[in-house]
Amino acid sequence: MAVTKEQVLAALGRVPTPGGSYLTQGRVLSDIVVTDGKVFFSITVDAAVVKAWEPVRKSAEEAVRAVPGVQSALVALTAERAAGAAARGPQPAHVAQQPQRAAHPADKVQPGVPGVDAVIAVASGKGGVGKSTTAVNLALGLRDLGLKVGILDADIYGPSLPKLLAIKEKPQTIGGTRLKPISRYGLTVMSIGFLIDEETPMIWRGPMVMSAITQMLREVEWGTLDVMVVDMPPGTGDAQLTMAQQVPLKGAVIVSTPQDLALIDARRGVAMFKRVNVPVLGVVENMSYFLCPQCGTRSDIFGTGGARKEAERQGVPFLGEVPLHMTIREKSDSGLPVVATEPDGEHAKIYRDIAAKVWDQIKPGAAPGRTAPKIVIEA
Ligand SMILES: Nc1ncnc2c1ncn2[C@@H]1O[C@H](COP(=O)(O)OP(=O)(O)OP(=O)(O)O)[C@@H](O)[C@H]1O
Ligand SMILES: [Mg+2]
Repeated sequence: MAVTKEQVLAALGRVPTPGGSYLTQGRVLSDIVVTDGKVFFSITVDAAVVKAWEPVRKSAEEAVRAVPGVQSALVALTAERAAGAAARGPQPAHVAQQPQRAAHPADKVQPGVPGVDAVIAVASGKGGVGKSTTAVNLALGLRDLGLKVGILDADIYGPSLPKLLAIKEKPQTIGGTRLKPISRYGLTVMSIGFLIDEETPMIWRGPMVMSAITQMLREVEWGTLDVMVVDMPPGTGDAQLTMAQQVPLKGAVIVSTPQDLALIDARRGVAMFKRVNVPVLGVVENMSYFLCPQCGTRSDIFGTGGARKEAERQGVPFLGEVPLHMTIREKSDSGLPVVATEPDGEHAKIYRDIAAKVWDQIKPGAAPGRTAPKIVIEA
């Protein structure tokens, strides 16, 4: 039987708060998202009392998990800015169950990554569409804008940065507890792949996923960065939600191939970030068309333009088309990303254009995702 919001609210109505009332009796809950037995919502409180609410967040998760039919529950605790909180004031119980504005990532309690101005995710609903290749070349494109850029491999199931950047060395520890990231092509790089053997099968469970990512964010000496690009694992699971919860993501770039099936997954990706209030900076159509290495003829083997149309449909920016090209594959897989090794080539230019469109939205003072007025959730 499908879980309903009402069932979730009934369970939350029995969770006590530090103020002596119950969780549904105040304007602290965001809208509650229930999909396929998975429940996600946030609790937003004054920054000053956030610590006291951590046990409430835990109890809320436990209460929701106990609802028959619920497979997983993720509750984010977020802090309201002081001014907003003052304006809000106490609320009578009768408005308690109305859906609330979910907190903006910038309001989150979780601090950002010290020294890092903007963290952006490169994601896709589906595997193998070229996220990692895009993430690396996008990071290099941002570097070419004169920015200090880091790249974090959050794909702890199948890390690819060691290969894409030909990194074999292990990071050193600083003071026995913190890790020094690796430098390559002017990028500051960290991947779980640096710490484990390529052959080790990686079987991670939800909580381990969360702690591995949190550690790579907070226990690594990232230094000062203008942008950190996060290469996400495929899909819309624990790792993605952890990122959205743990890091004030400035935005997300969705990579898709032009085929219809990939676009459905891309739509899911867009929907997931919108659901957790992370602005979608745009969609990249990868392997958009085939460029013959011999004659330079363009063939639209998968059909083309699908991602552009999908971006328009979703009200998110379209960032560019990257061709399916042998050079991109060969260079990428041998640790020689095109933007670094063929900076004057046409592929590098495409990635630099994408990087410029991304930077325009995340640079200080910009309003990311402002081109995305409507929210369409059809996942
Ligand atoms: N535009 C392109 N032209 C040719 N080959 C490409 C292109 N983009 C990516 N590839 C190749 O496709 C393969 C998959 O790319 P990549 O590893 O970047 O995808 P991914 O989405 O990160 O995959 P995963 O979901 O496994 O993490 C790689 O061999 C890569 O070199
Ligand atoms: Mg990848």
